[in-house]
Amino acid sequence: MASIPEIFASMAYGPAPESTKPAEEWLDRHGRRFGMFIGGAWTLPGELFDTVNPGTGQPLARVTQASGADVDRAVAAARAAQPGWWGLGGHGRARHLYALARAVQRNARLLSVVESLDNGKPIRESRDIDIPLVARHFYHHAGWAQLMDRELPGMEPVGVAGQIIPWNFPLLMLAWKIAPAIATGNTVVLKPAEFTSLTALLFAELCVEAGLPAGVVNIITGDGRTGAALVAHPGVDKIAFTGSTDVGRLIRVATAGTGKKLSLELGGKSPFIVFDDADLDSVVEGVVDAIWFNQGQVCCAGSRILAQEGITARLEEKLKARMETLRLGDPLDKAVDIGAIIAPVQLEKIRELVRRGEEEGARMWQPSWSCPTDGYFYPPTLFTEVAPAATVAQVEIFGPVVVMMSFRTPAEAVELANNTRYGLAASVWTENINLALDIAPKVKAGSVWINCTNMFDAASGFGGYRESGFGREGGREGLWEYVKEVPRRGSGEAGKYASKATAMSRTKAGAASPLPRVPASPPIDRTPKLYIGGAQVRPDSGYSLPVLGAAGELAGEVGHGNRKDIRNAVEAAHAARGWARATAHLRAQVLYYIAENLAARRDEFSARIVGLTGRSKKQGQEEVDLSIERLFSYAAWADKWDGRVHHTPVRNVTLAMPEPLGVVAVVCPEEWPLLGFLSAALPPLAMGNTVVALPSGRWPLLATDLYQVLDTSDLPKGVLNIVTGPREELAAVLAAHDDVDAMWYWGTAEGSAAVEKLSAGNLKQTWVDHGRGVRWEVAAEGEGERYLRHATQVKNVWVPYGE
Ligand code: NAI
Ligand code: MG
Repeated sequence: MASIPEIFASMAYGPAPESTKPAEEWLDRHGRRFGMFIGGAWTLPGELFDTVNPGTGQPLARVTQASGADVDRAVAAARAAQPGWWGLGGHGRARHLYALARAVQRNARLLSVVESLDNGKPIRESRDIDIPLVARHFYHHAGWAQLMDRELPGMEPVGVAGQIIPWNFPLLMLAWKIAPAIATGNTVVLKPAEFTSLTALLFAELCVEAGLPAGVVNIITGDGRTGAALVAHPGVDKIAFTGSTDVGRLIRVATAGTGKKLSLELGGKSPFIVFDDADLDSVVEGVVDAIWFNQGQVCCAGSRILAQEGITARLEEKLKARMETLRLGDPLDKAVDIGAIIAPVQLEKIRELVRRGEEEGARMWQPSWSCPTDGYFYPPTLFTEVAPAATVAQVEIFGPVVVMMSFRTPAEAVELANNTRYGLAASVWTENINLALDIAPKVKAGSVWINCTNMFDAASGFGGYRESGFGREGGREGLWEYVKEVPRRGSGEAGKYASKATAMSRTKAGAASPLPRVPASPPIDRTPKLYIGGAQVRPDSGYSLPVLGAAGELAGEVGHGNRKDIRNAVEAAHAARGWARATAHLRAQVLYYIAENLAARRDEFSARIVGLTGRSKKQGQEEVDLSIERLFSYAAWADKWDGRVHHTPVRNVTLAMPEPLGVVAVVCPEEWPLLGFLSAALPPLAMGNTVVALPSGRWPLLATDLYQVLDTSDLPKGVLNIVTGPREELAAVLAAHDDVDAMWYWGTAEGSAAVEKLSAGNLKQTWVDHGRGVRWEVAAEGEGERYLRHATQVKNVWVPYGE
């Protein structure tokens, strides 16, 4: 036993174990066997599996593997409860969310202990971070329930949400899922991860205690099979998933074409960028929080340190010194920094990836102390001399392993930071605010933390760019995932000119199409080509497609675009990404200029519409006039889709900034060949995206007639590219294209399903109409905020501020 002066001299910690007694008693009250929480009642335990304490490797309790019938019952219970829950009104729901927040706070310590027992995370983290954030999430969303009528006018709940969460933040992810869903009037069926079901089951008890109406929250337990059944269930209107990118991809495919709303929070390989003027002591503590928080089992873990050359050696030295002092061990010990890895399978995955790192020539370092052996522990690990393409620099390890690389210039830092398929988060460390705010918008990530890391709050949106998924959780931006527009009277069918078969296949080159009747005096043909990179280019195929007029006569021809043309168009759109950096004012100016030039040719365009569609002269003019108005609308919006400053309760301002998605593929509506084309292509353009557009397949000449208008309107080359040809075929190529960042599609239900399915490759965001059509001529439906929302993604930049 050391004397007190000795302890002061060494500053060594003694163990400070948290009592597990109340948690053990709670488990015992349940006989350590759990059924599920469905329709406000507990089911009897079914087929059981163990849930284990990773700190000891010993089982804690047994939980039920839900059957297909259980999933059915849970969905039915949620469905039955939904109208009443929504009918309760905003204030009624707010009272319930508030009650849940209070129940979480009253039981905070029990929840923390159960969480640490079941997950292996240090009690300090569950007690001081996870559980307080859970309560905060319910409080914050109680507020959104209260304000929904005023703040989300014209919106209603999606219905029943199926929610699937991972094991790394069991109760926190539950809160991120349940709070926004029920605040906005949905009911939920939530499935925790099979390794960590216990706090979700304890939360179910709190729902009863807090008087939540039966069926609003349903908890079913089980493994991936249960998750898959929930995803496939026809009674579910929305799937919210957090977990691995591989499973996210499966879910994208499984929900394609079903009309289910989907949000995915997936993996990451987040950069932690250190400039040479950064405060290195803060940086070292930042690294501790970035990669050793929750044993590195964090989707947004700062797992790639990018250090500027001048400070790399010093940082490495300081970091190693700090790693020697980290305390790893019993998660229930209040003095422990690093707890246990979730399960042997995860431990083995970490070991395997570290082996790969060494084999590939990186230098591995671990502190001199050794880990306890009676649980699933892995020491903090640092890799240096890592090549940017090395496995350990590219693959999400999901463990306490960080790689360090160096860069010379800020430009190189950005390039390295973005050298990943992910885009969840980034930290930027520098004392130079100009530099920090120069880097933040250049990093492709949903959250950027300046001189801080792993900051979360209910008021701030969290979610990914690229293969880290789509959708946001938290903040106003997170609410959109759980609402839909109240259907307007008379909508749900295409516009008043809706026609039957419009498939391009009828006029496909070489297909057996009826021979067009050639008029006696053929019109002078302008043989439009494709519009790629600001130039008219001949289609790679060398073929053209006939376009028929209203009387079945040959009205003209357009290029038969193919896969190669699409590739070129996407490349041109990428090359034009400077458009995103153009000022919003300039983008507005260009759109006004297009309107001006279109107005000058009003008669010509209207005659073209009449000739192709057989509509009246008045209708032709109306479409051109509406198109000009739409151009004005998006020119107006270009500099008015503002971000927000979120009030997160820490010393910083959190800037929620809408950013363009990148290259957006737009499959324009068949009807309204001019108005539809512009309505679909303008919102992404106005928001700074570049576009590859497929015009109406039946009447593409309105789009090809626009080439000259575009040429004379100062639209930079490559910002809008237009490819004519077999629409569904070309749409499929775009949907599968890895360099397309998002895709919009107006067409058939089958086409919509194909786009959603093919998008799974790079997990691009999609927005499709499932064949429902839009009344483009109605401004409230054919333009406005929802188009802008779909054309942007929110980046939250956390900037230190105040004392
Ligand atoms: P996972 O993605 O398989 O599990 C996440 C959740 O999805 C669990 O509730 C699981 O039961 C469920 N699930 C599994 N297969 C499903 C399916 N086909 N359909 C519907 N739901 C399904 O992740 P897992 O296996 O636990 O961990 C594997 C790796 O995934 C980790 O090593 C880590 O790299 C990554 N991961 C990333 C997370 C993140 O937050 N980004 C969270 C958990 C894991
Ligand atoms: Mg467990």
